[in-house]
Amino acid sequence: ALISLRQLLDYAAENDFGMPAFNVNNMEQVHAIMQAADECNSPVIMQGSAGARSYAGEPFLRHLITAALEMYPHIPVVMHQDHGSAPSVCLRSIQSGFSSVMMDGSLMEDMKTPSTYEYNVDVTRRVVEMAHAGGVSVEGELGCLGSLETGMAGEEDGSGAEGVLDHSQLLTDPEEAAQFVKETGVDALAIAIGTSHGAYKFTRPPTGDILAIERIKEIHARIPNTHLVMHGSSSVPQDWLKIIDEFGGDMGETYGVPVEEIQEGIKHGVRKVNIDTDLRMASTGAIRKHLAENPKNFDPRKFLKASTAAMKDICKARYEAFGCAGHA
Ligand code: G3H
Ligand code: 13P
Ligand code: NA
Ligand code: ZN
Repeated sequence: ALISLRQLLDYAAENDFGMPAFNVNNMEQVHAIMQAADECNSPVIMQGSAGARSYAGEPFLRHLITAALEMYPHIPVVMHQDHGSAPSVCLRSIQSGFSSVMMDGSLMEDMKTPSTYEYNVDVTRRVVEMAHAGGVSVEGELGCLGSLETGMAGEEDGSGAEGVLDHSQLLTDPEEAAQFVKETGVDALAIAIGTSHGAYKFTRPPTGDILAIERIKEIHARIPNTHLVMHGSSSVPQDWLKIIDEFGGDMGETYGVPVEEIQEGIKHGVRKVNIDTDLRMASTGAIRKHLAENPKNFDPRKFLKASTAAMKDICKARYEAFGCAGHA
C-alpha cells in the first residue's frame, strides 16, 4: 500500500529504526528492492531523481512503482520525489501521485548555486503548503552536500554545488536547523555532515574530521522531534569495487559511508538514508562479471538477473542493518 513519508518515519522513530531510501531508474532496481523487502518483511522507500525521470520518463517511473504496489500489496511503500529543484517540480509530482516530495532549496533552481537561507525557507514553505493540503509529505534540506576534504560537491555528472564550498556551508548549523523546521513545517530534514553524492566521497576510510556524525547528535539534541535525512549515504562496497576493476572497470580507490556510522546516526534521529551509488555499483559489477564469464551469452535477461540478484543482496543487508526488517 502507498503511504506517506511522515507516516512511515513517525513509526520508525517510535520503534528506533532507520529506512534506506533507494533511488530507482529501471525495473531491475524496483524488483531488487521489493524482493528484498518481501523476504525480510520491511517497508520501502523508493525515490525518483530528475535524472531518473529524464531517463525512464515520468510515466514509466511512476508505473514501475505502482506495479510494485500491485505485486506486493502487503508491503508499505513511499513513492518519493528526490531533490526537487523548484516548487513547480514538486507540484507536478504531487499531481502525478507521489506520496512525498523533496524540495531542495539549499541550491538555486540550477542545482549548482548555493542559495540563501531566506530563499530556502520561501520555496520550502510554499511546497509544504501545497503538499500538506493533499496529504503529501515534504523533505527539506539545509546545508550543502560536499566533501570536508576538498570542499567539492563530488558528483561528477549530476547535481551538486559548483566550485568550492566553505566549511560553514558543509555542516548544517543546529540553531539554524531549528529555525528552518519551525518556519517551514517540513516533515523531514536533510542535513549536511560531509557526505556527497556519487562514488567519490572520501579518499580514505572516513574518520570524525571528514564525516561529522557528531554534528548529527548536536542537531538531534536541538530538534529531537524532527526526522533527519542523510544524503550521499552509499557505503561504496569494497567487494564490488574490486569486482568492477577486476572485470575491465577502472573506478580506482575510493570510500563511502560505513554502515556502522549510519547505525550511529540512526541512534540519533536519522530516519531516512539515501542510497543510489551502492546499487549502481552492484549492478555494474554483476553485469561485468557475468559477461566476462559467459562470453557466448547475448540474452540480456541473463545478465540483468545477475544485476537484480546483486542489488537485492545490498538491499537486504541495509534493511537488516538499519533495523526496518520485520516492520512491514
Ligand atoms: O541525487 C542524487 C542521486 O544519486 C540521483 O542521481 O541525478 O544521476 O539520477 P541522478
Ligand atoms: P549516494 O550517491 O551516496 O548513493 O547518494 C544518493 C542520494 O543522496 C540521492 O539523493
Ligand atoms: Na530526497
Ligand atoms: Zn541526495
